[in-house]
Amino acid sequence: MMYKDKKVVFSGVQPSGVLTIGNYLGAIRNFTEFSDEYLCYYCVVDEHAITVRQTPADLRRRTYETLALYIACGLDPEKNTLFVQSHVSAHAELAWILDCFTMFGELSRMTQFKDKSAKNADNINAGLFTYPTLMAADILLYQTDMVPVGVDQKQHLELARDIAERFNSVFGDTFVVPEPYIPKATAKIMSLADPSKKMSKSDENENATVRILDPKDVIIRKFKRAVTDSGSEIKYEDGKEGIKNLMSIYGAFTGKTMDEIEKEFDGKGYGEFKLAVGEACADKLAPVQSEFAKLMNDKAYLEDVMAKGAENAGRAAVRTMSKVRRKIGFTEAKR
Ligand code: TYM
Repeated sequence: MMYKDKKVVFSGVQPSGVLTIGNYLGAIRNFTEFSDEYLCYYCVVDEHAITVRQTPADLRRRTYETLALYIACGLDPEKNTLFVQSHVSAHAELAWILDCFTMFGELSRMTQFKDKSAKNADNINAGLFTYPTLMAADILLYQTDMVPVGVDQKQHLELARDIAERFNSVFGDTFVVPEPYIPKATAKIMSLADPSKKMSKSDENENATVRILDPKDVIIRKFKRAVTDSGSEIKYEDGKEGIKNLMSIYGAFTGKTMDEIEKEFDGKGYGEFKLAVGEACADKLAPVQSEFAKLMNDKAYLEDVMAKGAENAGRAAVRTMSKVRRKIGFTEAKR
């Protein structure tokens, strides 16, 4: 196995929409926990985003925005390698190799593929199908030990582990087999319009999602409109999926437990509770938003972060690629 003095963390976010508090609480906020003790790679996965049709100008802008949000959410570029996937060509290169170690049946079983094909029936392209092998390549390229993600990515991560184990069993130890890191409380933030569905950045119903960049009045309005059951008690129990979701969000923004929240709102109604959730969320996001605005005004800085990130990531990726190429039996062009 490759020698490493620190364990490696890798994760990625698609620049395919304006990020939601699901992305924030389920993923990005957790990324910051690792910066001191781990070697951290956080990637803006633009190659994944093109599995669904994107407008080029929007993709470009969102790539900058996603990088800026990483930093605004507390990821220091001096302590973390922040980079853009398409700047390191080894991702696509390894993905091809891993495609040859991934079964058609495995990819056919991926629920995200089934969901996305249903939503994009006119564009069920091969990239959508092989998306999980590109994701496996992202992770395995850096000899990653841990991958912080929301629970919707668990199946993809299990496949990445299977691919790594399969490759290792054929060629001997090549890849570290990664572990998911999915804190339970925020593993799946649900839609505010339909608490049986995940909050998703591509949801067309604006009331379903709270965006990290929504202004305070919009955040409060969206929480006020959040769909809940017809009861009146603030209780964390089955059958009250909307209230459970709001309690999880409130707990995540305030650090309070479900018991503490039940006590705090004992005898109070949904209206008061929803307002408190909106305020807690808006207050926590305010510093992220002002930092984001500053960063978006300094494109040169973002480009500098991108360039340094690509260089750092590229160096690590080349090491894994040369090992993989040798194991597979590819020749070298001697110059
Ligand atoms: P993406 O861009 O859809 O989402 C980014 C991260 O946010 C998490 N997430 C959520 N967590 C909790 N509740 C929600 N409602 C919610 N919505 C999204 C996702 O689980 C994810 O962690 N395939 C990935 C991107 C990716 C990746 C990788 C991740 C590409 N390569 C390698 C980890 C490692 C995706 O589409 O995430």
